[in-house]
Amino acid sequence: MAILEPLGNKFRKIEVVKQIRAEELEIIKEIGKKFSTDALLFEIDGNSKLILYLRVLDIRKFKETVNDLLHHYDLNLEDSVLSTLISKIESIGSYGIKGGKRIFVDYNIERKVSQRKSKIRQRGSIFYTEEGSFLRKNNNVPDQFVNRILQGNSLNVLKSFPSNCIDIVLTSPPYNFGLGYDTSEDGVDWKRYFEGLYAIFEECIRVLKFGGRIIVNIQPLFSDYIPSHHLVSNFFISRKLIWKGEIMWEKHNYNCKYTAWGSWKSPSSPYLKYTWEFLEIFCKGSLGKEGSTKNIDIIGDEFKKWVYAKWDISPERQMKKYGHPAMFPEELVRRALKLFSYKNDVVLDPFNGVGTTTLVAKKLGRRYVGIDVSEEYCRIAKKRLMEVL
Ligand SMILES: C[S@@+](CC[C@H](N)C(=O)[O-])C[C@H]1O[C@@H](n2cnc3c(N)ncnc32)[C@H](O)[C@@H]1O
Repeated sequence: MAILEPLGNKFRKIEVVKQIRAEELEIIKEIGKKFSTDALLFEIDGNSKLILYLRVLDIRKFKETVNDLLHHYDLNLEDSVLSTLISKIESIGSYGIKGGKRIFVDYNIERKVSQRKSKIRQRGSIFYTEEGSFLRKNNNVPDQFVNRILQGNSLNVLKSFPSNCIDIVLTSPPYNFGLGYDTSEDGVDWKRYFEGLYAIFEECIRVLKFGGRIIVNIQPLFSDYIPSHHLVSNFFISRKLIWKGEIMWEKHNYNCKYTAWGSWKSPSSPYLKYTWEFLEIFCKGSLGKEGSTKNIDIIGDEFKKWVYAKWDISPERQMKKYGHPAMFPEELVRRALKLFSYKNDVVLDPFNGVGTTTLVAKKLGRRYVGIDVSEEYCRIAKKRLMEVL
């Protein structure tokens, strides 16, 4: 029985082949009444095929409506034809968004560029890496450094590593905000700070494999008007690394200077507030990273969510327990490693603190090297590693 026929407008067709019970049929009719026929239309073919013609959908409202109706008819979502339908809608990866609704057809029309490839060639993408000449031959990281926490200044420690031996660097350097780290200074003059940081990053680039990645979590100091994330990005770009992208780590940190408004209710100098931090991602020599497919551990749902580069992750809550003022939350490291590295890859954190990067690397079956200048932080990092089987 056809409930409605799609005429005129273009729709995306979704089919579910499953026995449709009488109550479900009623529910489908009810849903059809609650949504505009410009947005969606149902068709039932026999009693075991449901077709949805979809153009626009407020997915939250759709799910709520389905749940309410199922509840009304005392049915369970799990074994319903509607649960399969919702999964199918949610598995559609490409759609536009307007006013909180998903747009399933013609959402990219005005963005279509004709002869896209030749235009890209003409523009010359990643022009800033043109004179880069990285050695392509990769090396093994020496056994004495594998799965180790090394105490010392990274600048010196990394000097004993061969070139091209690390798959991925994931790190968060001190931000120079004046935090009370165990042994290192945090709050020197900015010029000295960046010189020190760049010297260590220079070593990171050297030890990184061709095709390897560097991910740096860095927060600007807005009150000093120092855009550290841009300066660090400029540094890597000047060294001919490819800028892969930027992840906004939304921490929902509303503690940030609640009452500092700059010029209150005046355009003279309002103070901008940020509840997020940045992760800048760079590649050495190539955007593609070699690895065996059997070493991929990211699943479809994770991939689909995480490539949208705004990650809502709460700040680490156990900093007091571990006695460190600026730890990564494990979830941040988990996402970064699963999205940008393979199992068994070698992960380096040259500012390893109490070892969140190395801990998560171990949990995810990566090899790791963590370096920190503080003996105490290294001791805690080792202890955390021992607690993982
Ligand atoms: C932001 S914290 C990193 C915290 C880490 N992500 C965690 O989850 O524990 C920066 C760390 O860099 C360390 N550090 C500062 N200068 C260093 C250097 N030159 N070499 C090695 N570590 C250094 C500090 O001791 C501090 O633990």
